[in-house]
Amino acid sequence: MKVLVIGGAGYIGSHVSLELMEAGHSVVVYDNLSSGLRENLFEGERFVEGDIMDPGRLEETLGEGFDGVVHLAAFKAAGESMVEPEKYARNNISGTINILNAMCATGVKRIVFSSSAAVYGEPEYLPVDEKHPTRPENFYGFTKLEIERFLEWYDRLKGVRYSALRYFNAAGYDVRGRVSGLERNPANLLPVIMEVAAGMRGELRIFGDDYETKDGTGVRDYVHVNDLARAHVAALERMARTDESLVVNLGSEAGLSVLEIVEAARRITGRAIPAAIEGRRAGDPARLVASSALAADRLGWKAMHSDVDALVSSSWEVYRR
Ligand code: UD1
Repeated sequence: MKVLVIGGAGYIGSHVSLELMEAGHSVVVYDNLSSGLRENLFEGERFVEGDIMDPGRLEETLGEGFDGVVHLAAFKAAGESMVEPEKYARNNISGTINILNAMCATGVKRIVFSSSAAVYGEPEYLPVDEKHPTRPENFYGFTKLEIERFLEWYDRLKGVRYSALRYFNAAGYDVRGRVSGLERNPANLLPVIMEVAAGMRGELRIFGDDYETKDGTGVRDYVHVNDLARAHVAALERMARTDESLVVNLGSEAGLSVLEIVEAARRITGRAIPAAIEGRRAGDPARLVASSALAADRLGWKAMHSDVDALVSSSWEVYRR
C-alpha cells in the first residue's frame, strides 16, 4: 500500500514509518517539523513539509493517490491543554477535519488515528476495556474523543474506514537503534528519567507517593513504541481486508509504578538518577492499565517489547549518546 504518514517525523511516527517500510509498504511523510525532526526521516521514504492547518497542501498531497493515511500529528501534553485549549482545538480537532475533508476530496478511504487512553478519564474499573465509559479529565483527551466521533460520522456518511488506536503510555525507542531523535521538552516519565540519567536535567520529580498502589507511586501501562508501530501496520492491512472500522486499546496489560521504572533505570544506566517526591499532579489517576484482548482478537496484536528492561534499555541506548 502507499501510505501518507502525517506526523511521520515525530517520536511515534518515525517508528511507524520504519515498520510500514519493513512490511513492504511505500511511505510518504507529511510533517510541519514543529516537533518532528529531520533526523527522524529515513532512506526509502519521501518527505513533504506541510501543515495540517493547510487544506490546500493536504489535498494536493493526497491527490497523488494513497491507499491510506496514518494520522499522528497532534499536541499531546495533557497539562498544557488545560491552559491553552485553543491550541489543542485548532490543531488536533480542526487539523483532523482538514485531513478528513482532503481524504474525501481525493477519494482516500482509510485512516489510522492516534487516539489515547486519555479518552477514558479516571478509571471506574481495571483493566480498562473499550466498553469503559469515556469521560476525559483533560482537554487533550476531549480532543481525541471528539475526533473519534467525527471519524464515526465520516465512516457512515462518506465510507471512510478508520482505526482509532487508543495508546496507553507510549515509551521506549527502536530496539534496532534506527531512531535517534530526542523529543524536545518531554513531560512523560521515561524521557524525563533518561534526561536525568544523561545529565540533561537535575532531578526527577515524582508526582505523589501516597497512592493506593504497590509502592505508593502511580501505576501505568507502558507500551513499547515498536509494539505500537506494529499495530498501525496491522490496522491498515485489516481495513484493506475487511473494509471495517475499529476502536481499540493498545497496552501491554502490565502495570509499572514510577519507582519500578526509576529502579530499573538506575540498574540499567548505572547512574544515580536523583529523585524528589512532590505532591500529586492534578488529574492523575492512581492506576491505569489496559485490557488488550480486542487488539489480540482483531489485529492479532500483542505487546512483545514492553517489559521494563526493554523499555529502559532501548531508551538509554539513544540518550547515552
Ligand atoms: C500520558 C500523557 C497523556 C496521554 C496518556 C495516555 C502527558 C503529560 N501525559 O499520561 O497525554 O494521553 O499518557 O495514557 O503527556 N510522573 C512523575 N514525574 C514526571 C512525569 C511523570 O512522577 O516527571 C508520573 C505520573 O504522575 C504518572 C506516570 O509518571 O504516574 C506517567 O506519567 P506520564 O508519562 O506523564 O503519562 P500519563 O500522565 O500517564
